[in-house]
Amino acid sequence: MSEKQVLVTGACGEIGQALVQELSKKGGYRIVTSDMMPLPDSIKHLSAEHVQGDLVYKIKTFYDYDFDIIFHLAASLSSKAEIATEEAHRINVEGTMQLLMLAAYRSEKYGKSVKFLFPSSIAAYGMPTLAAKQNAGAVKEEDFDNPHTMYGCNKLYCEKLGIYYSKFFGQKHLDEKPPVMLDFRAIRFPGLISAFTLPSGGTSDYGPEMLHASAQGKSYACFVRADTKISFMAMPDAIKSLLMIMDAPRECLTANVYNVAAFAITAEEFRQRAVMAFADARISFEPNPRRQGIVDSWPEDVDDSRARHDWNWKPDYDVDRFFEEYFLPEIRKRYGK
Ligand code: SER
Repeated sequence: MSEKQVLVTGACGEIGQALVQELSKKGGYRIVTSDMMPLPDSIKHLSAEHVQGDLVYKIKTFYDYDFDIIFHLAASLSSKAEIATEEAHRINVEGTMQLLMLAAYRSEKYGKSVKFLFPSSIAAYGMPTLAAKQNAGAVKEEDFDNPHTMYGCNKLYCEKLGIYYSKFFGQKHLDEKPPVMLDFRAIRFPGLISAFTLPSGGTSDYGPEMLHASAQGKSYACFVRADTKISFMAMPDAIKSLLMIMDAPRECLTANVYNVAAFAITAEEFRQRAVMAFADARISFEPNPRRQGIVDSWPEDVDDSRARHDWNWKPDYDVDRFFEEYFLPEIRKRYGK
């Protein structure tokens, strides 16, 4: 069977690096990458071609490629997007729209539906008050879709754009033969934690930052309150979910957008785990009101029963397995502790 051609944008980011490694392990793909930055050594040898530069200006280049699958990961994350809002909108929305248009064009012109995989986020939710957040428990995809951040607005809108380009673009009359449309599939991710890379510009970053700092014997001032609770996931589970939804037969999917969840814990629980694992961990809480407000607007947990039902989603790592079987062994190897 011939190789499938895959585009991974934002390949230098945390999800990008891990995804390129897994796709290449899986085999059967010609991986084209793109990013503002040159590829890091971790994935340099795995990319058939790297297009470096701003996606919005590079989009013409991609019209020459016959992509079967697009993973559009490039984005400006929530804390950064709140500081540079217009730039975030340009990157997050314009970049996505340009790629959706490309995928829609190719799908129709060549009669082959391009799969478009999009990482959305818990930032698409907006809990009106802290009390509402505490009372809501695990929220479903259609609940509380009133984001408080530029990043969240961008993600929610791009979900809608993806659905538009995959179902309604062209607005063909019912009597006309429907064109082949792109196949849009989005996952709303919780905060992600990798043992190999660190996030930058996000607001769930306090989790991974606290753990990586403690593992290196550095003190850490956590920028949210100790009682702050949101959902987190191990990076290998995030990649597993992307590959599962990529492979899921279209007829099994009852929606375009899916929550995935693994474990919901507080910043204090992170601290306790860090202190148990690293005796010299020094963690204080110095909440930053702006970033605190962002995390307070995200749900404590998400209900991923739709993904479990439609494509048999199940994370490998609950909180204990995350620490004992993934994060701590890997991080000890990395920092020699
Ligand atoms: N982890 C992201 C952020 O903090 C949310 O999707 O911005």
